[in-house]
Amino acid sequence: MSLNFLKDFSLKSFNTFGIDAKATSFISVHSEQELFELLESNHFLTAKNVLWLGGGSNILLSQDFQGLVIHLDIKAKSTQKIDDEFSLVTASTGENWHEFVLWTLDNELGGLENLSLIPGNVGTSAIQNIGAYGVEIKDVLQSLRALDLETKEILSFDNKDCEFAYRDSYFKRNKGRFVILEISFKLSRKNHKLRTTYGAISDELAKLGLDISIQNISKAVIRIRQSKLPDPNELGNSGSFFKNPIVSKDLYCSLKEKYPDIAAYPMADEKYKLAAGWLIEQSGWKGKRIGDAGMHARQALVLVNYGNATGQDLIQLSKRVAKDVFSKFAVQIEAEVNII
Ligand code: EPU
Repeated sequence: MSLNFLKDFSLKSFNTFGIDAKATSFISVHSEQELFELLESNHFLTAKNVLWLGGGSNILLSQDFQGLVIHLDIKAKSTQKIDDEFSLVTASTGENWHEFVLWTLDNELGGLENLSLIPGNVGTSAIQNIGAYGVEIKDVLQSLRALDLETKEILSFDNKDCEFAYRDSYFKRNKGRFVILEISFKLSRKNHKLRTTYGAISDELAKLGLDISIQNISKAVIRIRQSKLPDPNELGNSGSFFKNPIVSKDLYCSLKEKYPDIAAYPMADEKYKLAAGWLIEQSGWKGKRIGDAGMHARQALVLVNYGNATGQDLIQLSKRVAKDVFSKFAVQIEAEVNII
């Protein structure tokens, strides 16, 4: 098999911000065998920088990438019955997340329905511990296989080994060391645990006149997301640009006194998670635009590229927003997106 390296390759259609940055060289790998061949190749061994790329939905390219971009395009999915109650569903890193979720629902398997329409691929879902509408993948992830780039060994991680936390994992804290190859989820075959406590879901089901099932929850989530979040195919973005900041009870209480409407959720160990979208909106940035970079009009947490913004334009805007939030609330908001 010969590896097909492309030179001076535009990454525009490989990142959901639609930034037209170039990679010195680029390769798509379609199997683990190809991946191992690549690891032995001179091209890889002499590359100055390497960027492992999944669905490109969580990166902001600040400039051209001087190095080798490896697009993980390994695809496969399978399901295996564990018992009457559960199945183990395994998907390779390059499977599109949303298509995978729809496939589990077509197979009557429950657990991922609240995570419908999240952009990106299966592999990167575990790095971020993606979450929405009251569910995170840590709730259903059984195990995963990952390549350790330091030893070139393939390792298995069970759920605990992944050390998941809000938008965080062992892999995120050891950035650049692991390439996730495939993930297995334990999904329900019956007696699905339906999660509709996140208010908007039950409201949407009632509005649509739908009863509660895994497929209908997915439909409701899709409708809610489409009503708030811009479609990356139409408007470049990477979903929430910032994480919701977690603050001490003292800080929360003093903010609550001053701003009784503050959007916040209690967390474990007396901390509070504040809605960064609310903080950004109150700082006057919702729907504001500087050139082609802006904060979205329906969800202030989403940084958008209206057309020809560069990575630098977007980064500068995000810094101004974070600075204004800090001046007003003394709360530091941090990007959840990886800036490359
Ligand atoms: N809010 C505002 N103004 C805004 C946006 C939000 O006041 O412009 C308020 C809302 O009214 C609400 C609160 O902030 O009271 C929370 O808003 P929302 O329910 O939209 O959720 P979020 O905290 O802004 C998080 C995730 C989303 C996920 C939703 C739903 C993070 C960083 N983001 O957003 O994830 O879809 O909850 O569960 O945790 C993503 O990561 O890309 C993403 C979209």
